[in-house]
Amino acid sequence: MENCNPQVPGPPMLAAGEGVFSGDRFALSSPSHKESIAMSYENILYEVSDGVGVLTVNRPDVLNALNPETLSEIGHVVDAVRREESVRVLVITGAGEKAFVAGADISRFPELDPLQARRFAQLGQDVFASIENLPIPVIACVNGFALGGGCELALACDFIYASEKAQFGQPEINLGIMPGFGGTQRLTRLVGRARAKDLCMTGEQIGAQEAREWGMVARVMDADSLWDRTMEIASALAGKGAVALRATKQTIDRGTEADLRTGCTLELDAFSTCFASRDAKEGARAFLEKRKPSFSGSFTE
Ligand code: COA
Repeated sequence: MENCNPQVPGPPMLAAGEGVFSGDRFALSSPSHKESIAMSYENILYEVSDGVGVLTVNRPDVLNALNPETLSEIGHVVDAVRREESVRVLVITGAGEKAFVAGADISRFPELDPLQARRFAQLGQDVFASIENLPIPVIACVNGFALGGGCELALACDFIYASEKAQFGQPEINLGIMPGFGGTQRLTRLVGRARAKDLCMTGEQIGAQEAREWGMVARVMDADSLWDRTMEIASALAGKGAVALRATKQTIDRGTEADLRTGCTLELDAFSTCFASRDAKEGARAFLEKRKPSFSGSFTE
């Protein structure tokens, strides 16, 4: 795999002890191209191979807890992915055997006043919304604890593949706070009010199988095969028609926010748009000629 860290814009480096909760540190900065080449990530890894981008939250010593710097780095990669057409699928995972992400970095909490807490949550919400709004499929590969902000990060992805050892939960209540990165909203839309309140109010964790039964997890896999199987599916997705993938994602996301009639109208529009793509012609021709289709993601021949 090619390591793309030097190629994608990185965040401004923070000097040790610099006030990360002050001022506009929470805004996603836009370094110039020249600056970005010289930057590298401290808290994540990002690699691309054959159209599949892999973003790994890489703070295993603290179970990949999300501090503002890590969130900003994730945001920069997502912005780069949005611009880079060759990336067809994004997989998000956590480093180490134990955790996907064990939540926001609690070590920073004692210093937060309400305004700083709001900025932190706004950063998390902005970054997770940017993941959700990517036009390509985003898979959360959950290899362990997905708690608090980790559960919220996974829920911002299109679907979750989880190891049988994965644990999900919103334990913020045990710290005297509540979810702030969209958890009360995305979780409720996915599993309903009663189950969302159960998780957010008791702070208890549920296992991967239960999370699948609740509709949070798409597939549960053996821990040993989770990564290979996820990458196999990601590669297959990277070979599908990009126009159709984008249209499907947008129609499901926008349609579930609308009434059924509006949703079906969105589907009509998206379905007919697919027929303007080269891929739609190629898909039908390949089927009739009994060969594998070669999709380009293009609207033109
Ligand atoms: N923020 C900061 N540090 C965290 C963290 C978090 N969200 N989650 C884990 N860590 C750190 C621990 O402090 C510990 O650091 P240390 O080795 O310097 O003591 C290290 O990661 C390993 O965690 P540990 O608690 O020893 O592992 P465990 O297997 O006993 O427990 C968890 C695992 C996930 C159950 C436990 O770490 C936990 O409850 N984490 C917090 C989850 C949470 O509340 N998330 C929501 C935050 S808003």
